[in-house]
Amino acid sequence: MTTHRRDFLKASTGAVTLSALSYERVLSANDRLGVGFIGYGLIGKRHVATFRQIANIDLLGVAEVHRGRREEGIAAAGKHAVGHADFRRLLDTKSIHAVVVGTPDHWHALQTMLSCAAGKDVYVEKPLTLFVREGEWMMQVAAKHRRIVQVGTQQRSGAHYHRARELIRGGRIGRVTSVRMQSVRNVMPGFGRPADGDPPKELDWNLWLGPAPQRRYNPNRCLYHFRWFWDYSGGQVTNLAAHHLDIVDWILGLDSLRSVVSIGGRFALEDNGETPDTQDCLFALGRFNALFTMRECSLGNPSASLEFYGTRGSLTLSRSGFRVYGDPDVPPANQIPGVREGHPAGGPRSAPARAGQTRTESQEDNSGDSHAQYLAHARNFLACVRSRETPISPLESAQRVSIACHLANLSLRLGRQLGWDWKTKSVPHDADANRMLVRSYRAPWDRELRTLGVKE
Ligand SMILES: NC(=O)c1ccc[n+]([C@@H]2O[C@H](COP(=O)([O-])OP(=O)(O)OC[C@H]3O[C@@H](n4cnc5c(N)ncnc54)[C@H](O)[C@@H]3O)[C@@H](O)[C@H]2O)c1
Repeated sequence: MTTHRRDFLKASTGAVTLSALSYERVLSANDRLGVGFIGYGLIGKRHVATFRQIANIDLLGVAEVHRGRREEGIAAAGKHAVGHADFRRLLDTKSIHAVVVGTPDHWHALQTMLSCAAGKDVYVEKPLTLFVREGEWMMQVAAKHRRIVQVGTQQRSGAHYHRARELIRGGRIGRVTSVRMQSVRNVMPGFGRPADGDPPKELDWNLWLGPAPQRRYNPNRCLYHFRWFWDYSGGQVTNLAAHHLDIVDWILGLDSLRSVVSIGGRFALEDNGETPDTQDCLFALGRFNALFTMRECSLGNPSASLEFYGTRGSLTLSRSGFRVYGDPDVPPANQIPGVREGHPAGGPRSAPARAGQTRTESQEDNSGDSHAQYLAHARNFLACVRSRETPISPLESAQRVSIACHLANLSLRLGRQLGWDWKTKSVPHDADANRMLVRSYRAPWDRELRTLGVKE
């Protein structure tokens, strides 16, 4: 049932254009693939459940540093799955072709690179990285080992996201000049201030920390709550703006990003978290602005999570659907405020207009289903593992998103607006910011990084 890419190219195009990928095996849909999972937490559990619905794959391993979770993961993955306390043993398993990385952010880049070097294709959760340079390293290592990498921005696999994208790119709401994104909730007063202490016996805290700085165990630094600490995460900007910006990149492109400014702080939460509970980030792009607002301590109106504003109307988009709002087609002069009596002599005069006209038609689509998005995204990954084609959420795009998110956090932490130069991959004239584009890995993971041969 297998063939070679060379034959595949011959058959499909009649011509052979050899590339680095030419020597990869192209597998048919009937070839069984072995899949392993690194991290069985909130999203790892979701992934195991999703991959179990897919035919012609075997779930062969779960690597997890928490024993209780590892046992739960093996039970969920089924009879072929082997548990590993150390993910490197999972990577030694020859029958595993592909791994799903669902660990905290500070592990994503390194585990992806080590998996690629071990010959595995990778589905890695967003956010792609903890700092900017990691994304460049990931691209180098994936290319060197000719690996497929899918990033866990599953919204791209939603059918209604495709329809919304086509509408916007087809000009339905006119020229987009502004994008608004928000992630809001009220978790006051926060998650407490538990004392540092010894890790639970069933947790390998040292391996959980991995490349991150050595610290005493604190429950808020670990399962799920790691998101609020700079050592492991970039807070809600990398956690959630990453999803929104991913869609912005997919529809409009983030390669025109020129500068970012962000303000905020941990203003109200009363716990030991570090990242902001309130943050606004403003991105200057080609001919549009994008704004991300994040609130952890006031809900407000949560419905509009991603909004595109165009010259004919707007489109709001979420995992459950989208809506197009046509702007009223009213002559400009009629929109000038007339207060009550209107303008005196010489002032603007309103023009004749037909009531009820809009600049574009309104439309509603409520078909979104986030579970279907996870399933379609996993299917896309596995199809690309077989065909060696580029998945729908490739590294290059996730890196653009990652740069935007990290720059926002650096702007917040440095207290100034930051530019970005795509050619030099650096912040112009800002040595402090450029130093913060990279961090050191804790031993022995710094050595592991060196064995990967990345250009640091
Ligand atoms: N795409 C999405 O919709 C989505 C949703 C939730 C989370 N996420 C992302 O997934 C990642 C994990 O988030 P979560 O909420 O599942 O966190 P979590 O803390 O619930 O799960 C992470 C798991 O990884 C394990 N782990 C840590 N280091 C490990 C190692 N070296 N080897 C093996 N296992 C290790 C932890 O013990 C934990 O069980 C985050 O980066 C998050 O942003 C994505």
